[in-house]
Amino acid sequence: MNPKIDNLLTETRRFSPSEAFAANAIAGRDLYERAETDRLEFWAEQSRELLDWEKPFTRVLDWTNPPFAKWFEDGTLNVAYNCLDRHVEAGNGDRVALHWEGEPGDSRSLTYAELTTEVKRLSNVLIDLGIRAGDRVAIYLPMIPEAIMAMLAVARLGAIHSVVFGGFSADSLRSRIDDASAKLVITADGGYRKGKVSALKPAVDAALAPRGELGVQETVKNVLVVKRGENTVDWTEGRDLWWHDVVPAASPEHTPEAFPSENPLFILYTSGTTGSPKGILHTSGGYLTQAAFTHKNIFDIHPETDVYWCTADIGWITGHTYVTYGPLANGTTQVIYEGTPDAPHPGRWWEIIEKYGVSIFYTAPTAIRSFMKLGRKIPKKFDLSSLRLLGSVGEPINPEAWMWFRKVIGGKLAPIVDTWWQTETGAIMISALPGLTETKPGSAQVAVPGISIEVLGDSGSAVESGSGGLLVVSEPWPSMLRGIWGDPERFKETYWEKFGDKYFAGDGARLDEDGDIWLLGRVDDVMNVSGHRLSTAEIESALVAHPYTAEAAVVGASDETTGQAVVAFVIIKESQLEEAGGAAHISDALRAHVAAQIGAIARPREVFVVNELPKTRSGKIMRRLLRDVAEGREVGDTTTLADTSVMRIISDRVSAN
Ligand code: PRX
Repeated sequence: MNPKIDNLLTETRRFSPSEAFAANAIAGRDLYERAETDRLEFWAEQSRELLDWEKPFTRVLDWTNPPFAKWFEDGTLNVAYNCLDRHVEAGNGDRVALHWEGEPGDSRSLTYAELTTEVKRLSNVLIDLGIRAGDRVAIYLPMIPEAIMAMLAVARLGAIHSVVFGGFSADSLRSRIDDASAKLVITADGGYRKGKVSALKPAVDAALAPRGELGVQETVKNVLVVKRGENTVDWTEGRDLWWHDVVPAASPEHTPEAFPSENPLFILYTSGTTGSPKGILHTSGGYLTQAAFTHKNIFDIHPETDVYWCTADIGWITGHTYVTYGPLANGTTQVIYEGTPDAPHPGRWWEIIEKYGVSIFYTAPTAIRSFMKLGRKIPKKFDLSSLRLLGSVGEPINPEAWMWFRKVIGGKLAPIVDTWWQTETGAIMISALPGLTETKPGSAQVAVPGISIEVLGDSGSAVESGSGGLLVVSEPWPSMLRGIWGDPERFKETYWEKFGDKYFAGDGARLDEDGDIWLLGRVDDVMNVSGHRLSTAEIESALVAHPYTAEAAVVGASDETTGQAVVAFVIIKESQLEEAGGAAHISDALRAHVAAQIGAIARPREVFVVNELPKTRSGKIMRRLLRDVAEGREVGDTTTLADTSVMRIISDRVSAN
């Protein structure tokens, strides 16, 4: 076992919420009791309480055809109405929905009434562009209010959005547009990142241009472009439209139509164990129920007084559930920020917390670790006393980072909720409840009320407390994925074959003596870099697409800041060796190539040129051994290698670097 994990399990510090926090907390112990008594009735109650159904449902769950679940099937609702109009109708139209902060320091606040009107106008524009229920719309935008408007307008029409993270390349965008047969792309000229405009429209143009074997992109009819970056962009007449020309001119009246609970809401692509990303499909009523429930109870949302900030980009699931849908369904006031944490200065995030009086702050361990490196002096310059609750997501948080977060950012008082979930689960599945749970640094702790989690051994039997195993969700849950877009077989194989009708999450976990869960990372060939999922196969296939490369193996090696980092081992084609001009040049060229093919997040930290890769007699690459080398450890058992001398040569090569 990884020595770091052993340390985790000797962690004995415990922290209880203050009496004042506990006394005012939204979620009480009764939630667990009610969920325990009748799980399905519990979710039905939550759904009725948190959402407005146009036609109330009478059936809670249909699980007669596993793994295809239907929640609240005979009910109808409009997701955008639940996030917008109903708050205005309830008299909260003047409440700020979004405090947006641009990276260069420009800002804009939108009330619920204003956001509702903008979404209605945009919905009318989308109707004019021919978007109807069930159509797919790709969204490729920076973190600007228009990104949230775009998601909600698509949802309002019963259409399906596919948000593609702005850091992904034209190739990645093209494959996602093609897979979903999107009809419309909503983008911007560019957005601000690290003090510069990072262009987006050119990537859309490149994605839609005829390219190689893929040929002409035929499904996209229009590109709607927000002017944000002030960079000059090419224009395709008849296809491209400026947002500022069409949206303000559109009617602010739009009556939402109710759609069935199982109407698809969005597709979000995520990496799996093969080269091609999976389009994870989520639907409406169940998703919104669990998004609103977890957001309200885990983040202890008091909508009249709280200012909430989740730092995730809408390109990831966290940005879907805990920026757009959960907070807006609950009528929350939130901050969104366009840029990077260190632009234009390393105290930018803390400055924003001070400026808006942020009370609830949800971020990722990678960010916390990079702030730790910079030292406490920077946050200490700002008034962070408004913070009363902190959250962490995306990867295991090491106790040291947890303690720093608590002391330096939370003033030793704010509870921390470490939330485990996935793109596939749609919403948080494991977490403390902040007014109840005695928290433990490094443990995500217990299943959310109404969620059934087990840790199983390979054979499918529950592990004893104190032991490690595989994390499964043993009962269907409202915000579960409904499938992989266009690939029901892959859906079954990936998640449901291992343990029958229990969902296999792909994570290792350990139960401690109290029954608390400690996440141990992925058990498959999926890496977690800065809380973002990448597959070894996807990066390997990008590497072998380069003319230099004969073979490639990629591993996730532990990294002090990003959790894991991409490390690649490549064999260069004999014929290319001379032309490639030395290992340093090859490494630079291949790192740049991966960034261009997939996106900068996938760029390997290191590329090692080797002569052989460690393979078993059946030809399978033993990544475990490469991980040992990449992490500077002694290489483990090599007896199953076809050629046992290979690892010595690789180790020598790497240490000579
Ligand atoms: O390995 C787990 C890790 O992130 C994976 C899910 O990645 P993604 O779908 O991109 O969603 C990330 C944001 C929800 C999981 O399989 N993970 C997520 N949260 C935690 C975590 N690992 C440990 N602790 C967490 N709190």
